Amino acid sequence: MELKVLDHPLVAHKLTCLREASTSSPTFRALVDELVTLLAYEATRGVRVRPVHITTPVAETDGVTLADPKPLVVPILRAGLGMLGGMTRLMPTAEVGFVGMIRDETTLQPFTYAERLPQDLSGRQCFVLDPMLATGGSLGGCVQFLAARKADDVTCICLLAAPEGIENFRSLVDGLHITTTLVVAQVDERLNEQGYIVPGLGDAGDRLYGRVD
Ligand code: PRP
Ligand code: URA
Repeated sequence: MELKVLDHPLVAHKLTCLREASTSSPTFRALVDELVTLLAYEATRGVRVRPVHITTPVAETDGVTLADPKPLVVPILRAGLGMLGGMTRLMPTAEVGFVGMIRDETTLQPFTYAERLPQDLSGRQCFVLDPMLATGGSLGGCVQFLAARKADDVTCICLLAAPEGIENFRSLVDGLHITTTLVVAQVDERLNEQGYIVPGLGDAGDRLYGRVD
């Protein structure tokens, strides 16, 4: 698994606003959207393209276009949904699959409650979206799910990650023998006793969409 941590002052500035407990949901959603666009620029550096010949108003020239099959963007519900618009704005021809996961707050184990994905992901580059990598169980489970459908190139985009979660994620995906990349805006200090990222930003799903219980 290759880890890429963005080191960029604009990303750090927006993340600081995002972390602030007094930031309202509308502002939080707007910041997540902006941050994804910045992360996606780095995350799509290896996106496959094919050559095309085009005619500009001045001359003929060679260029590139996204290769087929088109990339698949997979937000992990709920919180990953907040990252979808920013990603598809950058790659409008990408297709979208959905995985719904909820972490049991006592055992910290992920439970998959929904999925809507193509059966066969052979040859398809996948981009998984989830703002938080805490224990790494949800993200690792999602990549295992994609690999079971023959995905062999998966890039995960997260806003914050805990060091121990990154190592757990690495152990979950390295055995799959597929190309896995993790792009993260910042790596935080640690997890607390409740499995929350410290300093973190709290519960990303709740901050985006409100509490459900
Ligand atoms: C959050 C987050 C990740 C997961 C991270 O989702 O969006 O999916 O927790 O935790 P982990 O790395 O320890 O697995 P949550 O389960 O709270 O669901 P939600 O997005 O519906 O709020
Ligand atoms: N899920 C979140 O939304 N935040 C955390 O800090 C950990 C898991």
